[in-house]
Amino acid sequence: MNARSTVIAIDGPAAAGKGTLARRIANHLGYAYLDTGLIYRAVGLKTLERGADPADAEAATSAALALAPEDLKRPDLRGDEAANAASKVAAIPSVRAALLDFQRQFAASPPNGAPGAVLDGRDVGTVVCPDADRKLFVNASLEVRAARRVKELRERGVEAIHTRVLKDMKERDTRDSERDAAPLAPAENALLIDTSTLNPDEVFNLALRLVSAGRSSD
Ligand code: DC
Repeated sequence: MNARSTVIAIDGPAAAGKGTLARRIANHLGYAYLDTGLIYRAVGLKTLERGADPADAEAATSAALALAPEDLKRPDLRGDEAANAASKVAAIPSVRAALLDFQRQFAASPPNGAPGAVLDGRDVGTVVCPDADRKLFVNASLEVRAARRVKELRERGVEAIHTRVLKDMKERDTRDSERDAAPLAPAENALLIDTSTLNPDEVFNLALRLVSAGRSSD
């Protein structure tokens, strides 16, 4: 039998730097990586495509249950329409329940025989993998996160207005943190990283030290 998979949970709000960090840690350790936000984005877009409102519990749950692997490869998953729809379907408990098994299965048996998995999202350390070996909560100020998102959008050739991005991000933060179902929050034993004044290399080095040092519950 295979040894138990080592699981690293990385949670935090949008544009805090958790995706870049999670991918780098996974590459460095030879672990599999799952961006759990992509799953919610795919469900959000699927619901919209079916002509339904992402806040409609029945429609969103049916889209979640019908989710197929190719839905996670859509090129438009990273856009703002997907982000906003994701944040709405993510507030529906039956949508979250429908997506739980897939995430837990990925953590317990990572693809390609990887010895561990890094999952990033909003509730990985609190709900999806409460027994994760390491838990990080990555945050940055709203201003910094909005500025990063504007830069990222412009680099992709998408027009972006700072005040608009900031407003959208604030709304999404509120929806993600104040919902009843698995709200965005650091796990009790998560190690906190504020990336507001750090560059990606500094964040990576700090996280690697935290992951390699003692247990996250210490
Ligand atoms: O990380 P992201 O921006 O791709 O996430 C998109 C939305 O999905 C986010 O606003 C909240 C939701 N989400 C969630 O509720 N739980 C997760 N584990 C990941 C994302």
